[in-house]
Amino acid sequence: MSLLRNFIIFLIYINSLSYALQCTTDCYFQSNLSTTFEIPKSCNQIISAKNCGIRISFSYSPYYSGLSFNFQHSNYSSGAFYSSSVELSDGGSFSFYYSIDHTCNHKDDCAIEFANNNIRNILRRLDFNHADLIRELSPLLSTNVSIETSDVACFDSNERVRQCGIVTKPGLCQAAQQLTGRQKTNRTCNYESYRGEKSVSIYDFGSFASFSITCNRSLCNGPVTQQVIKEIMFKYNITKTIDGRLNNGLRLSLSSTFLLSIIVFLLYV
Ligand SMILES: *[C@@H]1O[C@H](CO)[C@@H](O)[C@H](O)[C@H]1NC(C)=O
Ligand SMILES: *[C@@H]1O[C@H](CO)[C@@H](O)[C@H](O)[C@H]1NC(C)=O
Ligand SMILES: *[C@@H]1O[C@H](CO)[C@@H](O)[C@H](O)[C@H]1NC(C)=O
Ligand SMILES: *[C@@H]1O[C@H](CO)[C@@H](O)[C@H](O)[C@H]1NC(C)=O
Ligand SMILES: *[C@@H]1O[C@H](CO)[C@@H](O)[C@H](O)[C@H]1NC(C)=O
Ligand SMILES: *[C@@H]1O[C@H](CO)[C@@H](O)[C@H](O)[C@H]1NC(C)=O
Repeated sequence: MSLLRNFIIFLIYINSLSYALQCTTDCYFQSNLSTTFEIPKSCNQIISAKNCGIRISFSYSPYYSGLSFNFQHSNYSSGAFYSSSVELSDGGSFSFYYSIDHTCNHKDDCAIEFANNNIRNILRRLDFNHADLIRELSPLLSTNVSIETSDVACFDSNERVRQCGIVTKPGLCQAAQQLTGRQKTNRTCNYESYRGEKSVSIYDFGSFASFSITCNRSLCNGPVTQQVIKEIMFKYNITKTIDGRLNNGLRLSLSSTFLLSIIVFLLYV
């Protein structure tokens, strides 16, 4: 047993070493799709941490378009979180949003390495005609018909047609699919968010991912519309798979702390 104990102490020692990573931190700057990626000289703050991280986010609307980078260290688990959304507002305005949060710990300043290695692909992926995307999605998500002249029906989770919005109680149809595990889609009528935006919203943590639609056209939350919207998101290269994943979804990242607790658990229980 003492050999095992020494082995565990050795593992704890190895694990503590990972705190000695050097990460550029508190480094925030803005850019755009046509500017080459370059870390500003002012980003000179280096800190010892367990993980180095970066958040890359892009937003586009008729009034504003911007790309931002934020390098931050983190002492929590490593991994990747992708998110993207398209929102249509009542006044005919819209916005597109895409972000990547990447945290790593395999070497010093690995987040800078990640940015350097991937930025060309990311910029290429985001550089499409955003107005065209909106033009294709709008008729699927939104109707010109007013609630005052026509009721709205939505599918429920069993794909049965249900009355949703009426003029005295307007509502939106929603479909929310978990892309990991059982891949079930929740389909509902939502009364609370009626004044909110018509949207497509996607998340991807690697081991958990979801794809959601909120829309006000009758029966817009069914499997056919859901599939057509997935195909559009894939055609514009926003998603990496036809099924709606923002990341390839094969990477399951286990932190060394987690592995260590499994080993300790197996040895002592
Ligand atoms: C992109 O950013 C650069 C530097 O910040 C700026 O000079 C340029 O005008 C911007 N281009 C667009 C299209 O916004
Ligand atoms: C992470 O840990 C280091 C070393 O223990 C500490 O100096 C730093 O403040 C911590 N950072 C955060 C964000 O908790
Ligand atoms: C909605 O109305 C606008 C303006 O009248 C029109 O350009 C658009 O094609 C209509 N959309 C649909 C889906 O009928
Ligand atoms: C759907 O949304 C559009 C745009 O916000 C609005 O003009 C229309 O009246 C709404 N229709 C229903 C049935 O909610
Ligand atoms: C679907 O609904 C169930 C029960 O309300 C909830 O636990 C689950 O998280 C929902 N799934 C999605 C993808 O929203
Ligand atoms: C998507 O990516 C492919 C391959 O890089 C490219 O040929 C295609 O033009 C892109 N589509 C759009 C809409 O930008």
